[in-house]
Amino acid sequence: MTHRSSNTSPTRENPMHLAAFVVAGPVSGCHGGWRHPAANTDLLSASYYTQIGQLLEEARFDMLFLADILAIPRRYGNSHDSQLSLGALGALRLDPMVVLSLIAGATRHLGLASTISTSYFDPYPVARSLATLDHLSAGRAAWNIVTSFQQAEAANFGLTDQLSREERYERAEEFVQVACKLWNSWEDDALRLDKITPEFADPSKVNSIDHQGKWFSVQGPLNVSRPPQGRPVFIQAGASGTGKDFAARWADVVFVTHSSIESAQAFYAEMKERAAHYGRDPDQLKILPGIVPIVGETEAIALEQERILSELTDPEAGLSTLSYHLDIDLAEFPQDEVLPDLDVPGVQGHYKEVAELTRKTKMGLRELGHRYGIGPLRDFVGSADHVAESLERWYEAKACDGFMIQVPYLPGGLENFTRLVVPRLQDKGLFRKEYEGDTLRDHLGLSRPTTQQGTL
Ligand SMILES: Cc1cc2nc3c(=O)[nH]c(=O)nc-3n(C[C@H](O)[C@H](O)[C@H](O)COP(=O)(O)O)c2cc1C
Repeated sequence: MTHRSSNTSPTRENPMHLAAFVVAGPVSGCHGGWRHPAANTDLLSASYYTQIGQLLEEARFDMLFLADILAIPRRYGNSHDSQLSLGALGALRLDPMVVLSLIAGATRHLGLASTISTSYFDPYPVARSLATLDHLSAGRAAWNIVTSFQQAEAANFGLTDQLSREERYERAEEFVQVACKLWNSWEDDALRLDKITPEFADPSKVNSIDHQGKWFSVQGPLNVSRPPQGRPVFIQAGASGTGKDFAARWADVVFVTHSSIESAQAFYAEMKERAAHYGRDPDQLKILPGIVPIVGETEAIALEQERILSELTDPEAGLSTLSYHLDIDLAEFPQDEVLPDLDVPGVQGHYKEVAELTRKTKMGLRELGHRYGIGPLRDFVGSADHVAESLERWYEAKACDGFMIQVPYLPGGLENFTRLVVPRLQDKGLFRKEYEGDTLRDHLGLSRPTTQQGTL
């Protein structure tokens, strides 16, 4: 094992995991990032994404995670103008499965995670696409299972209203069950490829699923053989009670955002407990909070970078994104007053994060929008040593099993992190120097599901 160096003494048994949160659009970490002088705006080119994938692989990251939504948000002021003109988070999104297929061909070890909604697609084509990606990447596919949360998305799929949160999760539950049945519809050794007999596949090992449920009716079997990982790694980011329960039963990785180490620790303990409650080994559920590190050769350089990013981030861009995340029009609220307590129809995780920040700082809405648009927790701004120490502190304090790194601009912010911080984590014995396995499950220390485990 190369995870631990001899002169350091991390107390955690498992290695730290690093994933990169990337949006195939203008904003991956900081709303002002695409305007940074060193940012590459060639984000419609193939080389932009293969370069990111190769950088991450050279740094031995566990995976690249691509977020996705299915509409240009129009929650802020009932218009998509602010998203488009300011280049906010939802202004443009390339299809993540296409982007990941490209990166699969340019990398050999990096895990590849795609966000796919259970509210607007059907299990058969989704199971098929993910099985295809898992085969073509030799076992590196992951699925960020989202239930979606925007009215604008419903309107792109012929619906006047979104399903309620409870219905969305009910549909997600059946969706995932059907997908698992489809991946299991081929036994592992069903594909023979025997030229002599001849026997291409053994029909007795490929079975219909005959699923009849409330939301879906699917005969099966899938027309793709069982994926190398048994099923793709499941990622989930729901933070409502129902969302956390769903994650505790299904997820291999939970993605979350926090505004303090204390709330991260509480969430970590709660999720591990929930997983144990469902009879799972808590170690098989990895919790990765999203952070936006701003790192420089010295603290002064990092602070200067933060100042530049702050100046380039329009508060309205952050507010516009927060509006769609909460599914509430924040343009209607007094801009200098604090965000009141709300019953939020949108993403619970993001609401908890800004509610905590508001309680602590009492900042007005416009300032909150600016802060939300910049993204970083102060903990992760500074010299490489400072950032590496902060990551270690969170990890040792059981606030996480690793991090979802959201760099403020691409590719420079990523180059800074991989060049300056990753070697320090490796020297501390916290992070791998070489990949030890081939699949994403290997990197994350996750077992491969048997066909029986594949369906709850
Ligand atoms: C950090 C984080 C990232 C998320 N990324 C996405 C995304 O890319 N696409 C999406 O549709 N939903 C995304 N979500 C939303 C959720 O995964 C989830 O489907 C939604 O919040 C509804 O669940 P909830 O009601 O339990 O919060 C994200 C949520 C969080 C907290």
